[in-house]
Amino acid sequence: MSNSIQKIGVMTSGGDSPGMNAAIRSVVRTCAYHNIECYGIYRGYEGMIEGDFIEMNARSVKGIINKGGTILKTARSKEFRTKEGRAKAYKQLQNKGIEALVVIGGDGSFTGAMIFNQEFNFPVMGIPGTIDNDIYGTTHTLGYDTALNTVVEAIDKIRDTASSHNRLFFVEVMGRDVGHIALNVGVAGGAEEILIPEEDLGLDRLVESLRRSKKSGKSSSIVVVAEGDKIGKSVFELKDYVDQNMEGYDVRVSVLGHMQRGGSPSCFDRVLASRMGVKAVESIMEGTSNYMVGLKNDIIELTPFDQAIKGQSKINMELLRVSDIMSI
Ligand code: F6P
Repeated sequence: MSNSIQKIGVMTSGGDSPGMNAAIRSVVRTCAYHNIECYGIYRGYEGMIEGDFIEMNARSVKGIINKGGTILKTARSKEFRTKEGRAKAYKQLQNKGIEALVVIGGDGSFTGAMIFNQEFNFPVMGIPGTIDNDIYGTTHTLGYDTALNTVVEAIDKIRDTASSHNRLFFVEVMGRDVGHIALNVGVAGGAEEILIPEEDLGLDRLVESLRRSKKSGKSSSIVVVAEGDKIGKSVFELKDYVDQNMEGYDVRVSVLGHMQRGGSPSCFDRVLASRMGVKAVESIMEGTSNYMVGLKNDIIELTPFDQAIKGQSKINMELLRVSDIMSI
């Protein structure tokens, strides 16, 4: 394993997710293991442009593996989308002698990393950190497993009150424009219907399905709605539509929002983060760049940034069928 690289920077970018701290910890400790200096970059590309760096060592990351969020903070940077902004960032890295980067974030962060690599021939590796699980080249992004468990717990709580009041709840979950969270928590939470962007159920079919549930003796129902799916409407308009077109239902809405992004990372996410951090640093040491580390069949593999960014993460259609059968 070549070790010409002596200084590596690590940062978190885009929407935060549980497991990012575990990944920072792994990158820093893998650098320490290989006697490479590691610099934390605060607030993603914004902090890089400002030179907001901190030297980190194995002790800097103690006690964070179980912490949600990111100790390096995160941000979305408009300035980094400009060549001037990227040139400022490059200058800051040069001033510090940082020779390579590990970017923990989503597809937007990887797009910036890929352009930066192309413009300055600067080695970059990516670790997929987003609760959406919407990145091609990995079955799991960091934070997805934790978010699923957080949301299922919330749905169980909503189920308690829905069944006490014989109510129908529309529960909106995150995922920006993919239905992975909605589909999995819908099955796990026993939802009567799951609305995802990948499959347009349509309002009439929704009402029909809810009528069937009622006729089958269900006194309360839960409909999980992915934030990217509105059948063209907001979740509140869905409520109004059902209110106006269905008798006998007392309808409520619960938008889970940003609590889905918090919480202590699950064991799965901590282990995944630790594995990905090692792979990212050791890939840089081997001279590899412009790749995202991902999990495929429980093996940590590399996917070129351009494929990770352009590729589509497919919804599990078998799971969609399971959800139909389970909601009989
Ligand atoms: O990409 C992760 C995510 O949580 C999406 O699921 C959500 O739509 C978005 O970020 C929210 O972005 P922000 O944190 O900027 O409100």
